[in-house]
Amino acid sequence: MGLAFCGQAPEQPQAKLAPLQPNRSSELAIAMRAMDGELVGLLARHAAEDDWEGASLSELDLTRMMPTDSSMLVEGYTAFAIAFSKHVEAFNAAPSADTYTAVVSGCLSCHMRACPGPIERINKRQLGS
Ligand code: HEC
Repeated sequence: MGLAFCGQAPEQPQAKLAPLQPNRSSELAIAMRAMDGELVGLLARHAAEDDWEGASLSELDLTRMMPTDSSMLVEGYTAFAIAFSKHVEAFNAAPSADTYTAVVSGCLSCHMRACPGPIERINKRQLGS
């Protein structure tokens, strides 16, 4: 059942700004929302003009943060987390459409295994979507 509650329901009405269940948010869930917000900011500031000068993402150690439910710590979670942080480092070293795209695929690879709920939302962070 764990995965059914993973992340926000895709049909969450946009108008709701207050956190859904503030007491139940894990450190990982909060970090995820912050990363998602950073992607939104990058898309708004850099993607339209394809000018990635000065773009950067926070480098977080996802292996150290605990999710709401241990069922989200699927086999391979650590490998996905490490692969993802390499994509973020590569983006920060050379921000571009290509390295941005690799970051979003890193989000999606882990989510397909660990937490399918937000995939629809993450797909909206792809370039050209
Ligand atoms: C290594 C695995 C992994 C990677 C990489 C990853 N996620 Fe997550 N994500 C999770 C897990 C596990 C949860 C569930 C956390 C929880 O509920 O405790 C989650 C939750 C979320 C949520 C829902 C948060 C909420 O409000 O409850 C969003 C949105 C999200 N991730 C977006 C992203 C984005 C965008 C990226 C890339 C920038 C990303 N994730 C990268 C594993 C990952």
